[in-house]
Amino acid sequence: MNLTFLKTKSDLDNWRKQSKNQPIHFVPTMGCLHQGHKALIKAAKFSSREQKTARVLVSIFVNPFQFAKGEDFSAYPRNLEQDYKTAINAGASAIWAPEFETLFPKGKENYFTIKAPSSLKKCLCGAHRKNHFDGVATIVLRLLNFVRPKQLYLGEKDWQQLVILRQLVKELGLQVEVRSIPTVRDQDGLAFSSRNKYLTTEERAKALTLPKLLLQESIQFQSNKEINLKKLFSTLEKNDLNVEYLETVDYKSLTPVNYYKTKFCLLAAAVHCGKTRLIDHIFLMNRKPIVAIDGPAGAGKSTVTKAFAKKMGLIYLDTGAMYRAVTWFIQKENINPDNEKELEKALKNLNIDIHLADSGIQHVIVNGKEISNEIRHPKVTATVSKIASKAVVREKLTAQQKFIGLKGGIVAEGRDIGTTVFPDAELKVFLTASSGERARRRANDLINQGFSVPNLQELENEIQERDKIDSTREIAPLVQAEDAKELVTDGMAIDQVIETLIRIFREEIPEEVWPSNEL
Ligand code: PAF
Repeated sequence: MNLTFLKTKSDLDNWRKQSKNQPIHFVPTMGCLHQGHKALIKAAKFSSREQKTARVLVSIFVNPFQFAKGEDFSAYPRNLEQDYKTAINAGASAIWAPEFETLFPKGKENYFTIKAPSSLKKCLCGAHRKNHFDGVATIVLRLLNFVRPKQLYLGEKDWQQLVILRQLVKELGLQVEVRSIPTVRDQDGLAFSSRNKYLTTEERAKALTLPKLLLQESIQFQSNKEINLKKLFSTLEKNDLNVEYLETVDYKSLTPVNYYKTKFCLLAAAVHCGKTRLIDHIFLMNRKPIVAIDGPAGAGKSTVTKAFAKKMGLIYLDTGAMYRAVTWFIQKENINPDNEKELEKALKNLNIDIHLADSGIQHVIVNGKEISNEIRHPKVTATVSKIASKAVVREKLTAQQKFIGLKGGIVAEGRDIGTTVFPDAELKVFLTASSGERARRRANDLINQGFSVPNLQELENEIQERDKIDSTREIAPLVQAEDAKELVTDGMAIDQVIETLIRIFREEIPEEVWPSNEL
């Protein structure tokens, strides 16, 4: 038996049993493997977040359920021998090419089928290919049940499929992490697809109009220029591309959006070029993504956010340090914070500069003087909440923070980032921990910084008092934004929290928009 070419269920089971302690990363395909599949296999093989080397399994199954009557099921290109070589060369440990009977030994009628949520399939391909996504979901769920992988790899090229399958995994609580890779394009810009084989040279030249125009639109959008879908539609038609749909939708919920009212959406199209149906898309965004991380004092935000920012190549903005800098300044200048006029006047003479060096050390500079250590003094810690509740202080710092984040590509941490500073952040996380856990962490920090440590109960009371001030102040109180994801870090090691943040980020932000350097 060839141990890398699997056909039956028992082939698969035997393969699964070998070196059980190696995780399985799974790439489901319909065969006719191209560069896009190769990129998936490579990503699955070299996923650097995995401690152990993974075994990559590529399945090849032309799924009859996802083709409607009259579509190209029987003509769909099949070349198992070539696919086997391609997969193994790209790094797959085995391929699994089950027959229909392997997946459905008692015939299709005797098994459950899945229906994808109607909200996710009423637009784009779902509106034109009846039952397509039900067929995809039914098969992928079956494949996952047989393979039981640790990670599932899917291409962003089929964005709607990716959104639907992510929801399937989430809703059914399947123990698999879904990871995606950006659309892979040929040198001429055409997205790789098994169906490109159908195109004649002349048709291919016409097909290129689609990616070219989508790219042009996204560039227009980036510079806040209006885009015109009607014109785009007719240009495609003029180039002999018969447009099936051309839509702008919210990239997460897939509901239609007005592209001129949004900051970030998906522009997607399906066209017929001769007999070949092609799909493509682009993300329209007029700035890079923003991540907002809020949470109470001592939840470990700074440590994990800093590391997360570094790993993802995002700019790190510690707004808490800015409030500490103001507090330090007010204390140094002996200003009475309750005297609003005096405070306002003092703030006019205050210039805060904050940046993170490559070494990971954050520099906080006030009026040209580095005060990075001074702002961590317990004296500052004791008063920062009070100072941060002053309207003039918040106004000044919020404006500065918004300015820093204008172009995006930033992760900001604080108390009011998701609610006030960046309410339109693409990802909002509320990072928290119980007050007992936070008191223990604070004690460790103080020891590490060489300060004396009060008893734990005292620290916990102090933390609860700070929470109260922060969450009841009138301006920009500490509250979890409605659309924020809560992450409770009790009992989690720092690395686990960072890992979770990366996973959440990857679920929310397409690789195409912000590629990870870690794949
Ligand atoms: O994307 C594909 O190739 C197919 O839809 C999939 C996920 C393998 C299911 O048949």
